[in-house]
Amino acid sequence: MHPTEVHLTVAVVRYETNRRSRVGVASSFLADRVELNETPVPVFVSSSHFGVPSDGAKDIIMVGPGTGVAPFRAFMQERVATGATGRNWLFFGDQRRATDFLYEEEWLAWQSSGQLARLDLAFSRDQAEKIYVQDRIREKAVELWAWIRGGAHFYVCGDAKRMAKDVDAALHEVIAQQGGMDAASAIEYVKQMKRDKRYQRDVY
Ligand SMILES: Cc1cc2nc3c(=O)[nH]c(=O)nc-3n(C[C@H](O)[C@H](O)[C@H](O)COP(=O)(O)OP(=O)(O)OC[C@H]3O[C@@H](n4cnc5c(N)ncnc54)[C@H](O)[C@@H]3O)c2cc1C
Ligand SMILES: NC(=O)c1ccc[n+]([C@@H]2O[C@H](COP(=O)([O-])OP(=O)(O)OC[C@H]3O[C@@H](n4cnc5c(N)ncnc54)[C@H](OP(=O)(O)O)[C@@H]3O)[C@@H](O)[C@H]2O)c1
Repeated sequence: MHPTEVHLTVAVVRYETNRRSRVGVASSFLADRVELNETPVPVFVSSSHFGVPSDGAKDIIMVGPGTGVAPFRAFMQERVATGATGRNWLFFGDQRRATDFLYEEEWLAWQSSGQLARLDLAFSRDQAEKIYVQDRIREKAVELWAWIRGGAHFYVCGDAKRMAKDVDAALHEVIAQQGGMDAASAIEYVKQMKRDKRYQRDVY
């Protein structure tokens, strides 16, 4: 959709240590210091295994809280630009809907046009108890299993330490419960999804 542009989704690294505020070198440069239209620094693009199915008729399920949503915006752009007929489902989460619903207008427009078949949101700090993407995954177990059984590809992007592990556990649970499998069979089912490149992760 944007052949001459690279789009970035950047969370600025900010933290405190020894009672001093610190910021990440690159992320705060991009967010706070580089001027509009300035030619900033040389960069390179590295290629990635992480991409839409070559068969546009396949359904895709995308789990991308926080900056993890970045590649899925590109997935949608690619699928719309190429006229892919498979359905698209996004699970997105962040702290607060009012300030952290990244690319809200784009997701809502794709939802209105029917290009995004399903959109499930988990804003963790808009209520007393935490709600995360894996809670939405569990709530939608029946439909999720129907998509997966029908051949959908399942993608996860974002935080590796906690989120990706918890989403992986939720996926195993949904498959075991809805597919009527014991834990070992669910593990084998997910392994086969990975071998078939139907379960892909880009986590950091
Ligand atoms: C595959 C991959 C994909 C990624 N995709 C994205 C993306 O799409 N968007 C995005 O924003 N980020 C992404 N990240 C994370 C991103 O790489 C880092 O946030 C970024 O490199 C930080 O660079 P910086 O120069 O701003 O920070 P740096 O100056 O390098 O500072 C980061 C360092 O600060 C220190 N630090 C940070 N927090 C604390 C703390 N609380 N206490 C003490 N020390 C701390 C740590 O030593 C840390 O290594 C991705 C990472 C990987 C590996
Ligand atoms: N130092 C800071 O203040 C600060 C702030 C934001 C991000 N960061 C760092 O910046 C990087 C990128 O962050 P990001 O923007 O991509 O967002 P992120 O930190 O990955 O958070 C995105 C969403 O995921 C939620 N979350 C937390 N634990 C989860 C879990 N186990 N399972 C599922 N969801 C979970 C968060 O909720 P809760 O946070 O409400 O638990 C938030 O709603 C991360 O490395 C993060 O640690 C630092």
